[in-house]
Amino acid sequence: MTLCLPATPDGVAAAADLLRAGELVAFATETVYGLGGDATNGRALAAIFAAKGRPHFNPLICHFADAGAAFAHVQPNPLAEKLAAAFWPGPLTIVLPRRATSRVDMLAGAGLDTLAVRVPAHACAQALLCAAGVPVAAPSANRSGAVSPTEAAHVMADLGGRIAAVLDCGPAAIGLESTVLDLAGERPFLLRPGGVPIESIEAVIGAVARGITRAQAEASRGLRSPGLLESHYAPRLPVRLDAQSIGANEALLAFGAPLPGAGLTWNLSAGSNLSEAAARLFAGLRWLDEAAIAQGLARIAAMGVPAAGLGLAINDRLQRAAAPRKKDL
Ligand code: TXA
Ligand code: MG
Repeated sequence: MTLCLPATPDGVAAAADLLRAGELVAFATETVYGLGGDATNGRALAAIFAAKGRPHFNPLICHFADAGAAFAHVQPNPLAEKLAAAFWPGPLTIVLPRRATSRVDMLAGAGLDTLAVRVPAHACAQALLCAAGVPVAAPSANRSGAVSPTEAAHVMADLGGRIAAVLDCGPAAIGLESTVLDLAGERPFLLRPGGVPIESIEAVIGAVARGITRAQAEASRGLRSPGLLESHYAPRLPVRLDAQSIGANEALLAFGAPLPGAGLTWNLSAGSNLSEAAARLFAGLRWLDEAAIAQGLARIAAMGVPAAGLGLAINDRLQRAAAPRKKDL
């Protein structure tokens, strides 16, 4: 049975006790819900991979209450320090060389010599990290390859019965995962667009390399960020992108003024606001998938979303939702 804990001091204390005992606890961050485990406990990390059905080659992000705690486990450079000052706490993850002294279990980095570190801003996450007093490894709290959870109910639907508890902190405000930036190499590299727009990052540290293909990524340093694997965030129904019209068997994921003729619509943002669209994306994919299947529809047609600011991350998630599924490859 999975406990649903309230975001009260008692609920947070109970969640922290469970984490320290090696159990798994899902909790909200400002991006999406994470599936937390004590990052220094190899058994807890193995349980995260098992609960998600996640391939062991895909490393986990470690969460800390502040930059000082994070940099005790990785070696920062001046760019990382600038970014931490500008965006932490917040939706930015930085990949850096791991310190030899770090107690984080090697499973978190999936055998890489780097670690991905993040300081979340959400009050619930902050309270839990402070109470737990250990680094907390947390991938998004969904089954591997499925749509990320932005509400406690999504976590329960995916992982109920497989984890000890969910700390219910209400809906995640941003709705898209953190931006993942690799600062371990010679130049900064965008591994995943996310909650901090790349334009804001470039305003602080200058140009960031991006837009590499999966083949280039794999060639550059082993499998550089397995999160680059294409099919991900996938609802059960296939997704068609940049829809200009809507077919009789399709449900509509709209942005702005909806295309005419859809029997079933989820509008990401009627006013074409990208922050609102990001916050409503994953909940919308889940809802539309369920409702469309119940109505016997065969596909989700997604209208185009501009690729600037948060739109880059929204397009990234939509492209992966539409990519050929692993079982089709
Ligand atoms: O917003 C978020 O980042 C959420 C919340 C819970 O913090 N977490 C999240 O974790 O999205 P996950 O596991 O779903 O995605 C982490 C991404 C993956 O693409 C993974 O491959 C990459 O970060 N990653 C983790 N460690 C890495 C490393 N050492 N080197 C390169 N990529 C890494
Ligand atoms: Mg994920």
